[in-house]
Amino acid sequence: MNYLKLWIPVTLFFTIITQTKLATSQIPTTLEGPFKPVTRTFDSSLRRGRDAQIGSNVTALDPASVASEVWYGKESGKYTSKRRGNSTVYSQLYPFEGLMNYTSGIIHHVRIDGLEPGTKYYYKCGDSSIPAMSEEHVFETLPSSSPNSYPRRIAVIGDLGLTSNSSTTMDHLIMNDPSLLLMIGDLTYANQYRTTGGKGVPCFSCAFPDAPIRETYQPRWDGWGRFMEPLISRVPMMVVEGNHEIEPQVAGITFESYLTRFSLPSEESGSGSNFYYSFDAGGIHFIMLGAYVDYNSTGSQYAWLKEDLYRVDRTRIPWLVAAWHPPWYNSYSAHYQEFECMRQEMEALLYQYRVDIVFSGHVHAYERMNRVYNYSLDHCGPVHITVGDGGNIEQVEVDHADDHGKCPSAEDNMPEFGGVCHINFSSGPAKGKFCWDKQPEWSAFRESSFGHGILEVWSKPKMS
Ligand SMILES: [Fe+2]
Repeated sequence: MNYLKLWIPVTLFFTIITQTKLATSQIPTTLEGPFKPVTRTFDSSLRRGRDAQIGSNVTALDPASVASEVWYGKESGKYTSKRRGNSTVYSQLYPFEGLMNYTSGIIHHVRIDGLEPGTKYYYKCGDSSIPAMSEEHVFETLPSSSPNSYPRRIAVIGDLGLTSNSSTTMDHLIMNDPSLLLMIGDLTYANQYRTTGGKGVPCFSCAFPDAPIRETYQPRWDGWGRFMEPLISRVPMMVVEGNHEIEPQVAGITFESYLTRFSLPSEESGSGSNFYYSFDAGGIHFIMLGAYVDYNSTGSQYAWLKEDLYRVDRTRIPWLVAAWHPPWYNSYSAHYQEFECMRQEMEALLYQYRVDIVFSGHVHAYERMNRVYNYSLDHCGPVHITVGDGGNIEQVEVDHADDHGKCPSAEDNMPEFGGVCHINFSSGPAKGKFCWDKQPEWSAFRESSFGHGILEVWSKPKMS
């Protein structure tokens, strides 16, 4: 089944195009002048999405007022198939004096099954009855599951945001021409802004210590969708949540934007949750885990993971790649041992099934680990890679926990979900200590910069 390869780009893209009237016309030459003076003013709705509303009183749109259609086929201009999906809206409500509320434009999800692997499809989406159909776009489905076929090039980004650094990251990434994009949490950083918008801050709690709630400026999500559209209208993107997607609002509701805007193969992978799921791309099985929902060995995510790992046929799908937002192995001072509880709960299971690679974000820098298990070098352990350097508004991490005076105190890095399980190392050169006094042996390479990752798989892994 290859349906999941289309619905992610369709979802984000369609959200935008139903609000945009597309027109093409000939550009006149100066020889045809002089022209009558015309002023075209800035369309301020572009800042928030045409139909999104922000204010003290907002009224949710009727999702049924616009249909969700995708027309597609294997030849340009020939749409042999049509599918209809469903539409929805969400609101972000803050019942506090002076804080603005938000309700989204209409968000469309169209699920398409029966697509052939490794095949180009041309498509339009919109509502043909208005009429408002998009321009034609084209994308290629991922290869079928086999030890001899792999996605051409997989891009990996964490902590992207919507800054000038994010633009540079995306420009570089697009030049690398990926065929699949993994987005490992902290997508828009809408929660670095107050509900009134403005410039945003690198540290919300420092800038607004008296804020009644961690506010967000939801139009950043709309802008981020437009920013990503040129790529994700043609390349599948798979996302997993980070802490910046929590976005608490009225009545304890969280993750509303993340859960409403993205469709993920939770049902198809048996997880039943958009917070964690798995999918295949050629000879790679990807597992996306949720760090901000129950990860304990007694919980439903763990039970699903165990079953999912058990079901992978490694003769047909030899590579196992896992991803979640906060890293387990990290030698920067920021977020040091922050998700040690999650590691202690889940690492043995991933090791048992010989996961090959783990990608994480959260730490705003790059770090690649040597093969490691339980903080010891182990040639059967996965290679953990942190790529939380997408371009966020906060900062690049430069301090290492082993730098003189930079070992964080136990209170410095508190997780936004789950418990605290900080440990002193029980063996090796840092035995008895919380931090090493040199770059740990499990840390192979670290660099403080912005960027993205590219993963290319050429053959079966060597099994030992
Ligand atoms: Fe994060």
